[in-house]
Amino acid sequence: MEFGVWSKGLAALAVDCLVLGVFEEAELGGEAGSVDAACGGRLHKLLARGDFLGRPGDTLLVGDLPGIAAAHVLLTGLGTKKQFQRKSWRRAWSAAAGALVRTRIRSCAVALDRPEARQLDDYYLGRAVAEIAGGARYRINDLKTGKKPRPDALERVLVGPVRKAAAAARGLAHGEALAAAMTVQRDLANLPGNVCTPRFLAEQARAQAKRHGLRVRVLDEAAIRREKMGCLLAVAQGSHEPPRFIVLEYQGAKKPQPPIVLVGKGVTFDSGGISLKDPPGMDEMKFDMSGAAAVIATLTFAASLRLPLHLVGLAPAVENMPGGKAVKPGDIATSASGQTVEILNTDAEGRLILCDALHYARRFRPAAVIDIATLTGACVIALGHHHSGVMGNDERLVRGLQEAGVRADDRCWPLPLTEEYADQLKSNFADFANVGGRDGGAITAAAFLAKFTQGLKWAHLDIAGTAYQSGTAKGSTGRPTALLADFLLQHAAR
Ligand code: BES
Ligand code: MN
Ligand code: ZN
Repeated sequence: MEFGVWSKGLAALAVDCLVLGVFEEAELGGEAGSVDAACGGRLHKLLARGDFLGRPGDTLLVGDLPGIAAAHVLLTGLGTKKQFQRKSWRRAWSAAAGALVRTRIRSCAVALDRPEARQLDDYYLGRAVAEIAGGARYRINDLKTGKKPRPDALERVLVGPVRKAAAAARGLAHGEALAAAMTVQRDLANLPGNVCTPRFLAEQARAQAKRHGLRVRVLDEAAIRREKMGCLLAVAQGSHEPPRFIVLEYQGAKKPQPPIVLVGKGVTFDSGGISLKDPPGMDEMKFDMSGAAAVIATLTFAASLRLPLHLVGLAPAVENMPGGKAVKPGDIATSASGQTVEILNTDAEGRLILCDALHYARRFRPAAVIDIATLTGACVIALGHHHSGVMGNDERLVRGLQEAGVRADDRCWPLPLTEEYADQLKSNFADFANVGGRDGGAITAAAFLAKFTQGLKWAHLDIAGTAYQSGTAKGSTGRPTALLADFLLQHAAR
């Protein structure tokens, strides 16, 4: 895809399609007004007739308007003027981009009204245009036979009008890199568990490392044993698929600096183990490696933009299965940190692989550690699908992630991780148990992780409700890679 900026003379612009906004008040946006004048009021007439109501998500493709160079105009709904904000703008461009890729239109100029600059400046305009275009073009790498050729022909997108062309161009480049990273994540997460195994995930990490010039190291089962990762191994032992521990490193900082370490849960399939899950929806547990995929994706993002940062990505990868050698409720494992864990529920496996990975993170003397995990159903109950959960032991870090989520439109919301919750993890037989009952389940999971991050600046993102969609739209969303990318951009700018 090629992105650029248009400046003036929409009506004479040599593109296939102009993308124009319409408010519900049947009012043309400012840019649409100039096009309307050029075509003798045809757009106005169309609105007066009630052909298009400007509702959010609606689009209308109009062909062959006189007086303008583009063969098509695509109208997209901006909603009401009163409620017009960044979200309405994103919705309007998403709908338009989605409509464009269902046609053979090859180039377009985006000329939507924008909410005030505070909400969407030239940089964010560029970034969102490219990010959303990339998302609209995404197709699941499915295994369907008899594939139809995809109609999507969109190869050139111009944005405008902008005041600061350089800022818009920077935004476009960042948005393009972000869309590419989210595609990496979604492709990995959408693959079935029989394809995307721990070994496959490790090979994919290697391939991405090679493409982007990252350092990579993969620990096999023997190496994992040498690291004494007893909790990770306890999860892996019920499966015929051997575990892997993926270590990626991106060194883009001018001077040596302590890294930000990202840790992603990589359960390539979560059956629950001996504490077997109910059958309905169990197929969705192939998405239980979304955190690991997000970590791999985020490192490719940083590398492709050569951000001046030092990053480490850790992805413990296992399959959680109830084989004959599987760990049983009541079994006690010794973590790499030396702390012992009574495994009361084998379905609380994410925290078991993360605790050993978080301990491994210490050797990098990190500036901050952020783990990303489809960790608890309880987080979905608490927050639904709009916000990821965020917790941690460092208020600034948690706030930084929350603010990055707002800017990136990939939001997260804090849950209160105070000391009391750890009481629920008490065990008579080991240092603590791996579950603390149903109440506050998202928080007790984080309280478990907190036992392994003392002295580190640490935050935890629970993405169980946001990493993928169910139902007819089933598939990976690519979240929270946009949040993480924004967080890193912010960090790099400091
Ligand atoms: N992978 C699941 C969490 C999950 C649930 C992700 C729903 C996405 C959607 C995790 O390993 C799990 O099974 N958690 C248990 C914890 C419980 C046993 C304390 C859960 O949430 O039920
Ligand atoms: Mn589980
Ligand atoms: Zn899981």
